[in-house]
Amino acid sequence: MRLSLRFLIPLLIALGVFAYAAVPLVDSLMTRWFVRDLDIRAQLIANTVQEPLAQAIESGSPGLMARYLARLTQDERIYAVGVCVAPSMPPIATPEFPESLACDKLHPYTDSEAPPLLRTPRGPLHVAVRAIDAPAAPGAQLILVHDMGFAVGRSEETKRYLFYFFVALGAIVALITVVIAQLSWRGWVQGLRALLRGEGLVRPASAADVPELRPLEAHYRPRDESQLAWTPETLRSILKGELQGHEVIVVSNREPYIHVKADDGIHMQRPASGLVTALEPVMRACSGIWIAHGSGSADRDTVDDRDKIAVPPDAPAYQLRRVWLTPEEEAGYYSGFANEGLWPLCHIAHVRPTFRSSDFEHYRTVNAKFAKAVKEEARSADPIVMVQDYHFALLPRMIRDLLPRATIITFWHIPWPNPEAFAICPWRDELLDGMLGSSILGFHTQFHCNNFLDTVDRLLEARVDRDAFSVTFRSRLTVVHRYPISIDWPPDAALLSKSIADCRRDLRARLRLPEEHAIGIGVERLDYTKGILERFRAVERLLDLEPQWVGAFTFVQIAAPSRSMISDYQHYAERVRSVANEINRRFARGDAPPPILLLIEHHEVESVYEHFRAADVCFVSSLHDGMNLVAKEFVAARNDERGVLVLSQFAGASRELPEALIVNPYDADECAAALHLALTMPADEQRARLRLMRGLVAEFNVYRWAGRMLIDAAAMRQRSRLSRFARARERLTSA
Ligand code: G6P
Repeated sequence: MRLSLRFLIPLLIALGVFAYAAVPLVDSLMTRWFVRDLDIRAQLIANTVQEPLAQAIESGSPGLMARYLARLTQDERIYAVGVCVAPSMPPIATPEFPESLACDKLHPYTDSEAPPLLRTPRGPLHVAVRAIDAPAAPGAQLILVHDMGFAVGRSEETKRYLFYFFVALGAIVALITVVIAQLSWRGWVQGLRALLRGEGLVRPASAADVPELRPLEAHYRPRDESQLAWTPETLRSILKGELQGHEVIVVSNREPYIHVKADDGIHMQRPASGLVTALEPVMRACSGIWIAHGSGSADRDTVDDRDKIAVPPDAPAYQLRRVWLTPEEEAGYYSGFANEGLWPLCHIAHVRPTFRSSDFEHYRTVNAKFAKAVKEEARSADPIVMVQDYHFALLPRMIRDLLPRATIITFWHIPWPNPEAFAICPWRDELLDGMLGSSILGFHTQFHCNNFLDTVDRLLEARVDRDAFSVTFRSRLTVVHRYPISIDWPPDAALLSKSIADCRRDLRARLRLPEEHAIGIGVERLDYTKGILERFRAVERLLDLEPQWVGAFTFVQIAAPSRSMISDYQHYAERVRSVANEINRRFARGDAPPPILLLIEHHEVESVYEHFRAADVCFVSSLHDGMNLVAKEFVAARNDERGVLVLSQFAGASRELPEALIVNPYDADECAAALHLALTMPADEQRARLRLMRGLVAEFNVYRWAGRMLIDAAAMRQRSRLSRFARARERLTSA
């Protein structure tokens, strides 16, 4: 319809201009034709009356002449008649003969090129002057005056008809335009079918009828995305603009809000998960549906009859759809294949992966369960589905089978190993095939993208394009791209509302530490990839090398219990406890505070931020980590630009935060030196480093992470719509 309007308006304007120019032209043409007719008529009359008039002049009787002239005016068109016998004499004429037509003033009607018209108050008169051949009066002239009123009347009528003509012409052209636009809009075939069915021509075709022929609205967003300020609003505008209001469905294993039963009722917990930390603000902005495993003991009591709950509970912004798993499924899919198989397979932490076929069976079943949930929640045939992490390697292919036109963005939050390491997995081909059901596959670092491409190249019959960083497998393209994840920025004001001084004082008081006691902080899940043991060994080495810190420095380790049903995690927790105790024993000095305070318990984000703000140094010593958001959260928490970050070179974050003190966690001496440097670093240097890191996190926040994936997804959708459009057009033209 918009297309027809775009064509119709200029067309109607052009017709109007044309009509405006044509009317005076037609008017003057008609006047000329009438004048010519009257000239001929006058000549005819002059010829006819030649002899009787000559005799009347010969007779010398003005009375006879006047009577004869009066008879001539009985012709209704002849208005008046006069005869000039000599230029100096008044004309002998009928009573209506215009006074201005004196015998010596007739030359304008004989010599001029202009039409011989006399303008009078009653309208134009045609004046024809003809010579009379009378020997008695050699210069005698007959003057015939015709009334042109009839011509004016006809000209008005013509103008009126012309006006109606142009209106009718405009309407017919407009109608034809709309019909043609409609027919080509639906496709000729559909258009003709609609006509035969008797549907109206101007009814816009339903877009769902022929999706390929929906109008192609392309949006171009400048590539220089650094010009954008990345906020929740930016994400919303991408969804509304580039993605034309399409829904976003997120799938992850871990849910953002867990309801648990307690003695005093139901409590809500936010889990310790980098994935949740990053995605939660994104979902608040996107308002879609988040599908996740309902793992809390009170989860079933808090959902509606479609297993959904609006979250966050205090200000609902999106829907959480919970998927229920049996204890066997949870054990096989989550604890077994995901966390005993894939997790150690992808992390270089020297823990052997365990692969059991029964676990993989559950993994397959649960992935299929989530695919079904995605299909149930999709409101269109081409939703945007964001699949999260290693729990769902098979899911992209399963969704692709159920919703072939979906845009599937899979983000792998953990590292991707090299081909040799990955190849030990018995179901390696099926996993790769599953992942290549994605439209876009994201990793945190280029290194992991390279590893993935190498793995596909080595293990599958696929076309790997290292220029475009894409894989074509089973005739479908998957783009492999680096999207470094980040956190919400600016951080929630409530998290920064307690002053640094208050945080320092309260935390030290709570932990029974002296007011000026130096504090180091570590916050993570109790996971062997996090390098907690290596961190403790670094503290031990610091105290060995720089004994002035004994009794003056405590490292506070918050370790959220994690995956505790897995034996590797149980052993690790035991080791962590025993190493902490061992070191504390070694450096016990009477009542002096211990070097390590191990808090194996869940802390909500407010408490974590309080610890960050109270500490002098934050130590992230992951042995291998996709990104590590704790490092970025520490930077965000320190709006006073004080404090030092010591960061493992094996965490993805070290690529983005080079102003941290970058260390190898396996090198206890280096880590101890870094801790000492951090504890003695001048305030100016702390400020300079933090400023740079805060700038980076501000610029590359989580909205940019999600926004870049959505922009790439939008570009892919536009490209595939263009090719579907071209294919559909080809089909129609060849039909
Ligand atoms: C890592 C994974 C996440 C996971 C988180 C917490 O960050 O990449 O997918 O949610 O650990 O682990 P959990 O097993 O408790 O969900």
